[in-house]
Amino acid sequence: MNRKIVTSALAVLMLCPQMGVQASADSLFFDEEKVPENAALVFAAEDEGILSADAQAIESVEAGKYAPAQAQILKASSNFSAIRVHWQMIDCDGYEIEIKVNGQWQHAAWAPAGNSNKLIKGLVKGKTYGFRVRAYNKVDGKKYFGKRSAVFRYRTKGYKQKIDGITYIDGIMIVNKTYSIPRSYNPGGLTATTQNAFNKMCRKAAQSGIYLYCVSGFRSYDTQKQLYDNYVWRDGREAADRYSARPGHSEHQTGLALDVNNASGWFDGTPEAKWLEDHCCEFGFILRYPRGKEHITGYKYESWHIRYVGRSLATKLTQKGLTLEEYYGITSKYKNG
Ligand code: DAL
Ligand code: ZN
Repeated sequence: MNRKIVTSALAVLMLCPQMGVQASADSLFFDEEKVPENAALVFAAEDEGILSADAQAIESVEAGKYAPAQAQILKASSNFSAIRVHWQMIDCDGYEIEIKVNGQWQHAAWAPAGNSNKLIKGLVKGKTYGFRVRAYNKVDGKKYFGKRSAVFRYRTKGYKQKIDGITYIDGIMIVNKTYSIPRSYNPGGLTATTQNAFNKMCRKAAQSGIYLYCVSGFRSYDTQKQLYDNYVWRDGREAADRYSARPGHSEHQTGLALDVNNASGWFDGTPEAKWLEDHCCEFGFILRYPRGKEHITGYKYESWHIRYVGRSLATKLTQKGLTLEEYYGITSKYKNG
């Protein structure tokens, strides 16, 4: 059998990486050391280490004798402790997936010729790993490897960052009893994305005769302090802490959260509350303090408080019935009780 090996150009490199997943062209890496000298592979012209997107190199190679072309990584999807790497299938006998951990390349997995993806498990949450895939042909029980595919970097979910005193996990701002925001943080109102998503939701709800409006959106640190202090004066600190955030700990200060129609138990069970619970995720919102989760979120059920997290995460959390705390494995507890 004559193998015709087509090394497709690295248009793949131009692909948009998935949300939360990073690929970087500056980490391109080619290693020819394992390619037999007589492999006679011709690759597309290299331009400062990056193959030009429109070039194609085609080379006929004798039956199964030589290394096949490289298998390009196409994308990856990540979990908290696993990353599934997808590659372009090529004509070969199998693949090796390698992973770079703490600067060291290691064998991660073998995959048979018919596979185009592999789940690499046992990874650390919120950590970046490099991946490369190479294809091989087997001759007399010996593997001949093609050039390695370019390196792609992917990150497991749960990547925590602190920027200007604010905690983000996978880019999602986190504010609860454990994670505070600085007194000075003031977006000046609801963020444009939050406001637009809310407007869109209100228009959609109105089509079903459901009228939604915002009764409390952005609240500055000082406004929250006044509110909280009043509640403490009225009900005592222990009771207030179950329904009101201490200043610097309220999502209202982020400009990403708002209270709908009636911020009280009177809203519970109304057609509006029901509609909100059923549909808010379609617009990127979650009910932030659901029923029966006070021990997790730190707050009693609030049928009216919604938080913008974007459609994809909102849908996932709603379908799974998870709070941000459960999804990211974080606490919501004040340091000083
Ligand atoms: N009622 C919510 C917890 C707040 O005060 O931000
Ligand atoms: Zn609220």
